[in-house]
Amino acid sequence: MEGGVTGSCVRDTVTVRVPATTANLGPGFDCLALTLDLWNQATFTLGGSGLEISVAGEGAGRLARDRSNMVAQALARFFVAHGEPAPSGLRIDCQVAVPLSSGLGSSASAALAGILAANTLLGEPADRDEVLRLAAEVEGHPDNVAAALFGGLVMVVRNGDRLLTRRVEIPPLSVALAVPELDVSTSALRAELPGTVSRADAVFNLGRTALVVQALQDGDLELLGLVMEDKLHQSHRLAHIPGGAEAMAAARAAGAAAVALSGSGPSLIAFVPAGTSAADVAAAMTAALGEAGVPARQLVLATTAEGARVTA
Ligand code: HSE
Repeated sequence: MEGGVTGSCVRDTVTVRVPATTANLGPGFDCLALTLDLWNQATFTLGGSGLEISVAGEGAGRLARDRSNMVAQALARFFVAHGEPAPSGLRIDCQVAVPLSSGLGSSASAALAGILAANTLLGEPADRDEVLRLAAEVEGHPDNVAAALFGGLVMVVRNGDRLLTRRVEIPPLSVALAVPELDVSTSALRAELPGTVSRADAVFNLGRTALVVQALQDGDLELLGLVMEDKLHQSHRLAHIPGGAEAMAAARAAGAAAVALSGSGPSLIAFVPAGTSAADVAAAMTAALGEAGVPARQLVLATTAEGARVTA
């Protein structure tokens, strides 16, 4: 990295926490996402020479520890965007709790961590909209990034060069997740989606997307169960997840109110009503995946209204 050790930075250390996110929520393809109470943390310390990165937790031994690391890339992108030389010495310590490549917004979290840290180190020259725009540019999925930044249920659309977002307050909900140990890439799965859709399928998703927002806002899991359906992406993606469709059915049979593919998958997310065991729902999903030969981890989480924050 170039420039002085601290350059134009107004502080020499910053810690950020960024939550997991689940995008699409069934029909809300590329425009809806929700934060989950599972957090990645990264501490940035200026000093020394060159770039040093440590990774503990989910990414240990797998995530890049050089300039190609997405946290470092995002930080560098911010410095370039603001015409500032990147720090000549920087240490980044990452504690990763969000499973990688799982459809839970791990890379959105990494991009946002780098952008938020850079903005803080430089004295906050960027407003939240610019933070969102730059992090989405680095990562490529505005829905995950917007939810991770603002927290809660977030709607996002592109408007020319801008991203328009609105955040909706929702009551806390309990979710069960199955995280299949499958190596499926978001970009490969996106490339397979049909380029055009029928008007009937578009209409099917449009109305349901509106009602998913209303159901989550009202905590109306009965309505959510009726409208969390999709005709634009899920079936194409489930074809790459042996046991995925069966796991969704198993979640419903175990008492889940609604189930969707989380983002582009391969994780599945089930919304669980009070009085039903989320652990049982997660176990039902992983059992169905296991029968199809796919090992999967179980997670039971709550949704959260909190977005990314600078903690120190
Ligand atoms: N909306 C994006 C997609 C999210 O479905 O590809 C990626 O997690």
